[in-house]
Amino acid sequence: MQQSEQPTPSARQALTRFPASFIWGAATASYQIEGAWDEDGKGPSIWDTFSHTEGNILNNDTGDVADDHYHRWQEDVALMKSLGLKAYRFSLSWPRILPNGEGWVNPAGLDFYDRLVDALLAAGIEPFITLYHWDLPQALEDKGGWPNRSVVDAFAGYTETVAQRLGDRVKYWITLNEPHVSAYAGYYWGVHAPGVRNLSAANQAAHHLLLAHGRSVAVLRALCPGAQVGITLNLGLAYPASSMPADRQAARMADGQLNRWFLDPIFGRGYPEDMLSFYGDSAPAIEPGDLEQIAAPIDFLGVNYYTNNFVRSVSADVSGLGYTNLKAAELVEAGYEVTAMDWAVMPDGLRELLVHIHRTYRPPAIYITENGAAFEDQVEAGEVHDERRVSFLREHFAAARRAISEGVPLRGYFVWSLLDNFEWALGYSRRFGIVYVDYATQQRILKDSAKYYQRVIRANEVLSE
Ligand code: FCB
Repeated sequence: MQQSEQPTPSARQALTRFPASFIWGAATASYQIEGAWDEDGKGPSIWDTFSHTEGNILNNDTGDVADDHYHRWQEDVALMKSLGLKAYRFSLSWPRILPNGEGWVNPAGLDFYDRLVDALLAAGIEPFITLYHWDLPQALEDKGGWPNRSVVDAFAGYTETVAQRLGDRVKYWITLNEPHVSAYAGYYWGVHAPGVRNLSAANQAAHHLLLAHGRSVAVLRALCPGAQVGITLNLGLAYPASSMPADRQAARMADGQLNRWFLDPIFGRGYPEDMLSFYGDSAPAIEPGDLEQIAAPIDFLGVNYYTNNFVRSVSADVSGLGYTNLKAAELVEAGYEVTAMDWAVMPDGLRELLVHIHRTYRPPAIYITENGAAFEDQVEAGEVHDERRVSFLREHFAAARRAISEGVPLRGYFVWSLLDNFEWALGYSRRFGIVYVDYATQQRILKDSAKYYQRVIRANEVLSE
């Protein structure tokens, strides 16, 4: 009786094995790894300005050198090949290519990415390019940044420049990384570049980011026929912290702010009415035709998932949006493991989120464009035994596999991150890499999680250790 309930080895594999075409990758972003902040004609970005201003970044760290990837890209591509990565998601530094954001094109900037793309292809690794991962040219910020509508034209022009050069070889394009973070961390909470604190400006920035996305999709369609084009959003379900009506309402607002404000217009539903009325006078100015452009059909949705959120209502909280997320101590008390970012580890939350997106918006395909965790890693005798990251990844891979069983068109998975790197306002204090970086020597060391990932990719299956 008992025996018949045990799955046979092949049935077990059916639950853990991924489709043959599944794309296993790793992700990075230009400002977080490249360094060479003012080399070979690169213009400054808002992150150069922001990190060079004392007090903005923990320990006053900057991305001036970061992982020195600008000089070590060949070594890094070899590393990716050794891991067996099928794809690599990286972003282009807009001011490396267009130092003023528009106008003059810096040939050295384009050459850098041209060589990188060729090296990836030669190594059998599919490039997934993110056009914008937060490093806006400072020259455009000086003209008003994302709250100024003219940035949309500049982004379309930048897309055109890049597509003309790389579009013959690059098949996967992601217009933006996490417009929610660009808009609200950058222009409302002020904790990211450019450090502005103004809700109207942030809402206007969010609208222009979405519009820039739509325009960029149109440019890519025209210049790169057959390309797969998408956008990456940071998404997370919002659970009420209690059954109190105020907490339920707060969770609805958090979902509106983080998820629906972006998903609804991208999938042709316009902005959510409840959020427009919640923002009131701070709601963005929208011109005729904007919503149609934002809703340009995409081939895939990129999902960055780290955790889901427990939301509580607050009357006068610092965020000004009427809600706050539970603190780490409360999450621990509720039984969750938390990472070095104080984020709750919720693997099944990934499945739940993916199923929700699939049922609500029906994107033609989904990639997890980021998932991973920061833990306090130690080098011991030249090795990094990051068991917690290994089990974090294993549990999330298993959750992704369950989502596929439930019908989610999940086509690939990018671990954040290939390398330890500059974690924005937290500088180098948080390590997300599956590869350890010794910042003093720039030595790369494969953590146990990288070796585990290598085996998972080879087997195309969630392995138990
Ligand atoms: C995401 C960012 C990425 C990295 C991870 C931890 O929000 O896209 O650059 O910082 O968080």
